[in-house]
Amino acid sequence: MRRSGIDRLPRAPQGAFDVAPGRLGFGCASLGSRIGAADGLRALGAAYDQGVNWFDVAPAYGAGDAESLLGRFIKGRRDHLLLTTKVGIAPPRRLGAIKLVFALGRPVIGVASGLRRAFRQVSATRNVHAPLSPDLIEQSIGASLRRLGTDRVDIYALHDPDPADVGRDDVARALERVIARGQARQVGIAGTADACRIARKLGAPYGVLQMGVADMAAARAEFSGGAQPIVLHSMFGVDGLKRRVERLLAQDRARIQRLVAAGYADEPGRAAAELLADYAFALNPQGVVLASMFDARHLAVNLDRASRPTTMQAIALLEDMIGRG
Ligand SMILES: NC(=O)c1ccc[n+]([C@@H]2O[C@H](COP(=O)([O-])OP(=O)(O)OC[C@H]3O[C@@H](n4cnc5c(N)ncnc54)[C@H](OP(=O)(O)O)[C@@H]3O)[C@@H](O)[C@H]2O)c1
Repeated sequence: MRRSGIDRLPRAPQGAFDVAPGRLGFGCASLGSRIGAADGLRALGAAYDQGVNWFDVAPAYGAGDAESLLGRFIKGRRDHLLLTTKVGIAPPRRLGAIKLVFALGRPVIGVASGLRRAFRQVSATRNVHAPLSPDLIEQSIGASLRRLGTDRVDIYALHDPDPADVGRDDVARALERVIARGQARQVGIAGTADACRIARKLGAPYGVLQMGVADMAAARAEFSGGAQPIVLHSMFGVDGLKRRVERLLAQDRARIQRLVAAGYADEPGRAAAELLADYAFALNPQGVVLASMFDARHLAVNLDRASRPTTMQAIALLEDMIGRG
């Protein structure tokens, strides 16, 4: 399926990928839960039309529905995009009840971030780690491919693994078999800096490392410039970093003036988003930065920032404000 929009998104080096990844990728954690099918598919299409070709999903995402919905989206587009799915986290236990809550509460949950946070804190709604084993690795990729409606993913990643599991031989061999069968082009880690550190040291079979922006910020000297491409997620901060930056800017006019002088927006919410996006791209100048962007305004801001030359000044501007790492 041809793209219908303007593709001005810069690419990361192609390396071992089948197509060169766009610098901005789409994270599908909310597809099928907070975000319903129609809105989700519309947002994926809008991003794809503007050059986004990296889609990140997992069996647990969207209360277990994200892979199937993404599968509907990639039909006819498969050869033009890159897919990551993962193994090691199962959907929440009370899936039926959770789906019902999302279906009924979507209009409210979509706008009420406090409610979203409260919902995540209920233990039965939390995703659960499944003990990693060769059987799980082999069975989970088969199930993911069926849901995605494709014969391969580009990256099959251990989902937030215990660092000790990353070094296990039986895990590495099972991942190699997944590659040998053609079910994944590459395997990787999507987890903490500690887990990525071990994969970094081991090299093969781990070809791609994914971690949160905060982890990368704390360990950037270590992870810059290696052979494995880096993917960053959670640029607005699972711990509410965007809200914190926005508050700091709203409290102190001198801060926002400094940002305006550096070319950022005059409004604290917009300036915080622009600065945090620039920060993520600056921390990972050769790689991909993922964002959830089901809101069209979020997609527009993130595409705009990704399309600008990477600016290292974002690192100093943000860290002067919040402290380092
Ligand atoms: N271990 C792992 O594998 C792991 C862990 C965490 C995340 N991830 C992946 O990374 C993806 C992104 O991570 P995330 O959801 O934690 O963080 P995120 O992309 O920083 O998104 C957090 C929130 O920020 C909003 N947002 C996006 N762009 C914005 C902008 N320009 N201005 C203001 N708000 C904006 C999003 O809203 P909307 O979506 O409503 O537009 C979302 O509600 C996930 O979907 C998942 O695919 C992987």
